[in-house]
Amino acid sequence: MSAVNWDQIREWDEKYVFHVLATKDEYHSLPVESAEGCYVTLADGRRIFDFANQLVCVNMGHRHPRIQKAIREALDKFGYVWEGMTTEYRSRAAKLIMEDMGVGSWAGRIRFLATGTEAVETMVLMAKLFTGRRNIVTRSYDYHGWTNALSGANGVRGYRSSLASGGGRPSIRDVPDAPSPNYHYAPAPQCYRCPIGHTYPNCKDKSGTLACVKATEHLIQVIGIETVAGFLTEPAQGAGMIHPPKEYFPQIREMTRRLGILWLDDEVMTGFGRLGEWFGYEVYDVTPDIMSVAKGLVSSAVPASGVVLSKEVAAFFDHWRFSTMSTFGSHPLAMAAVAANLQAMLEENILERVRKLGAHLGTRLQELEARHPSVGLVSGRGLMWAVELVKNKQTREPFVTVDRYSIYAKTEAVPASQVVGRIAFEEGVAVGAFLPNSIRLATAFIATEADIDFGIRAMDKGLTELDKQCE
Ligand SMILES: Cc1ncc(COP(=O)(O)O)c(C=O)c1O
Repeated sequence: MSAVNWDQIREWDEKYVFHVLATKDEYHSLPVESAEGCYVTLADGRRIFDFANQLVCVNMGHRHPRIQKAIREALDKFGYVWEGMTTEYRSRAAKLIMEDMGVGSWAGRIRFLATGTEAVETMVLMAKLFTGRRNIVTRSYDYHGWTNALSGANGVRGYRSSLASGGGRPSIRDVPDAPSPNYHYAPAPQCYRCPIGHTYPNCKDKSGTLACVKATEHLIQVIGIETVAGFLTEPAQGAGMIHPPKEYFPQIREMTRRLGILWLDDEVMTGFGRLGEWFGYEVYDVTPDIMSVAKGLVSSAVPASGVVLSKEVAAFFDHWRFSTMSTFGSHPLAMAAVAANLQAMLEENILERVRKLGAHLGTRLQELEARHPSVGLVSGRGLMWAVELVKNKQTREPFVTVDRYSIYAKTEAVPASQVVGRIAFEEGVAVGAFLPNSIRLATAFIATEADIDFGIRAMDKGLTELDKQCE
């Protein structure tokens, strides 16, 4: 046991640190001693399987030896140099993405930044500068970041940097000038509970176009095509926990090209192998105009993100001087970690591993779906899965009726997440429970089938409890 006084640590944390997702009364400090692979060790010595992969972001696992070695070596050479200077690490990172991961087939340049929000923010900024247009269309249930300018792009109301009161059903306080009137929300491709009342695949018209794609085009036409810079989406909704039907992105890409607006592809969560391809767009055999990346870019070992520009967009910016800079963009330690992370992914044949483990996880989850009345749907791909919890499997009635329109405090008012989350945790498994009726499951790519089976057994126990609350 370490000599750290954890009671003191907890006290300072609860007293001085600003916390998210909980009021002061709801917050309970959860001191963590260390993390390794796909496990975290709590201060009380308990070892927890990280079945949420933190924020779906530690792709190669905690403390991957190659990433650690690269950071140590970079530390011996650098304190810091700014993004106006070239390091070996940054050039190698760019080459690995463009040449070895195939992004150079459509993209011209990558700019490195520090966080996912910054990358999406830059993507939106560049889309507006490139097109000279002010409007951005995004979707219900999307999540793109948390800053004042960007949070308007979030399609879950509580994620728009709002304040939610504690207790059961929260009241929401919006930021006074948000969301920006330049964000517009198209319907999410949520076939399980279609937000515009259709049933997949009967929602297709004679030409095969999905109703949600038609509604998106309608929205763009109403706003005025010539005012829309781009359509901003995630390949799979990470916070919203929705995977689209296979026709969705090919049709979206055809539509955005036909209308002459940019497709802004936020791959902060899906990039670098999460869905069993290097990038989510590959799943649907389409390519974007601009793409944001973070999380998996560096397996979250240190802060690093990037915005990738198509050849056409990159060529436009080649003729301009981009007149601001980021102190922490391209930090040498981060660039060393990025290059080592990507090299490890390529050399460890990680895509094949994600596909194999993902198939195993999918099969085990489908078994849970068949067995438990409280599981309405499991959906996912690769190592990014969602479990939809229902009070009534036949009617698909959720436990918390407001579902994805808001966020809920982590109290007993959220029976679904709480019951499964608590029980799984008692069994030594941490699952992701951000929306009231959904559980997010993801693992590091270096997990084993035995790790996944351990996590599934804990979920099984939690769901058995929850089944008792079903109608
Ligand atoms: C799709 C997507 N975009 C943007 C972000 C914001 O990234 P960050 O938390 O690094 O600012 C996230 C974070 O979860 C995300 O999932």
